[in-house]
Amino acid sequence: MEKTLNKDIDETLQGTPTMVKTETYAGKKLYLESYGCQMNFSDSEIVASILTKNGYQTTNELNEADVVLLNTCAIRDKAEQTVRNRLKHIQSNKKNNPNLVVGVLGCMAERLKSQLLEEEKLVDLIAGPDAYRTLPDLISDIDDGRKAVNVLLSREETYADIAPVRLDQNGISAFISIMRGCDNMCSFCVVPFTRGRERSRDPKTIIEEAKSLLDQGYKEVTLLGQNVDSYRWNITKKGEIINKDEEPVSFARLMEMVALVSPDLRIRFSTSHPKDLTEDVAQVMAKYENICNYIHLPVQSGNSEILDKMNRGYTRDWYLNRMEMIRSIVPDVGMSTDVIAGFCDETEEQHQETLSLMEIVKYDFAYMFKYSERPKTLAERKFEDNVPEEVKKRRLQEIIDLQMKHSLESNQKDLGKTFKVLVEGESKKSQDQLFGRNSQNKVIVFPKEKYKKGEYVNVEVLNCTAATLIGKAINYA
Ligand code: 5AD
Ligand code: SF4
Repeated sequence: MEKTLNKDIDETLQGTPTMVKTETYAGKKLYLESYGCQMNFSDSEIVASILTKNGYQTTNELNEADVVLLNTCAIRDKAEQTVRNRLKHIQSNKKNNPNLVVGVLGCMAERLKSQLLEEEKLVDLIAGPDAYRTLPDLISDIDDGRKAVNVLLSREETYADIAPVRLDQNGISAFISIMRGCDNMCSFCVVPFTRGRERSRDPKTIIEEAKSLLDQGYKEVTLLGQNVDSYRWNITKKGEIINKDEEPVSFARLMEMVALVSPDLRIRFSTSHPKDLTEDVAQVMAKYENICNYIHLPVQSGNSEILDKMNRGYTRDWYLNRMEMIRSIVPDVGMSTDVIAGFCDETEEQHQETLSLMEIVKYDFAYMFKYSERPKTLAERKFEDNVPEEVKKRRLQEIIDLQMKHSLESNQKDLGKTFKVLVEGESKKSQDQLFGRNSQNKVIVFPKEKYKKGEYVNVEVLNCTAATLIGKAINYA
């Protein structure tokens, strides 16, 4: 039988009632699948940590699992449909293994609550993003024939003390969650309802996690939060210091603290909000070589009226001004964005303004979506989802085509340049090629020669597509 890893559980071996349950879990196999944003992938590592401490072993084989958990996304209707289809497929596995526990975690669990369990009978367990500590109890509730649902949101939970079990296998780059939730209430977005109020994690635990990753051989960390620029510790929203004996920590200061862990550890962060992005973040980015010169700054629309309806808290000009500020401080910064096509009442002229903003900024990369109305959001209650599907589709295509042009142009500008690249592994297409990223987050593929995963290599760009730079290694960086 698998030896349990956790101190609490070892204590239970002295005879408390939970001992029996721990014994039952030992050696049981957990299969986890994640959908949606990086935050969800990071949360799955917390879930894996909680359950392995309770005796579970993770597996990559759905067929050998005792517990299957899907960490889900609710951001667009399509994301939910993907999960529903997957659940139907997994239900067929139950025929071979009637004791299989199927659970839904994350945003869809929070949004639909017990609906998936009661009406659709697709799952046995529902746990929202702040309920993962209770997963062992929820699973035993099922064993005892009780309903296993916990969708309580918390104002404090940050899982600060939980060391995530890294599920990525790459061993080079890892996520560190620095805050949870979102207080922004963008009118299109379901996240404030599914992930609750904003709260930041104790910086000491963040630094410890970064150091521990470095010790394990990791070379890159991405600081994650729904809105990282709102990170604050020991300081109120109004700027008052809570404990005078302790340093207040803003996002810029936190980045600096992580950057100082080691010059060999690269720092990235996601996601920023234009209304909260301050100059000191750009200053810190410019000051430390190991903070990557890359920013993902979702614009959503290039028209101020639509931005107002979206409740984004900035205008077109204000956004463009932020972009200029960043470029003036970090001239070689890589930039990407999120765009939504066909939001409520969007006219052709307003759509054209999105295209013209893209022409001005010339993003290196973008995530582009059709507006998808989400239940309970401000937009659902206040506005009509009245841009016809065909029009949304066409506008999205125009946005995608323009972005493809800009991505290619941006990559062509890099021809002949040499970049410091962190090697992440072998290219999917060929074992003789390695791939990695430069500071600006562009993927570069180059012949392997003597170089290895985890090394910093100077690579000269010789060719490109819209998606990838193609080069040749010159020497170690
Ligand atoms: N419809 C379409 N796209 C959305 N996003 C968020 N909510 C919606 C929605 N209802 C997009 C935004 C956000 C990204 C994570 O997903 O662009 O920045
Ligand atoms: Fe999806 Fe947003 Fe939830 Fe992430 S936070 S899982 S993108 S709905």
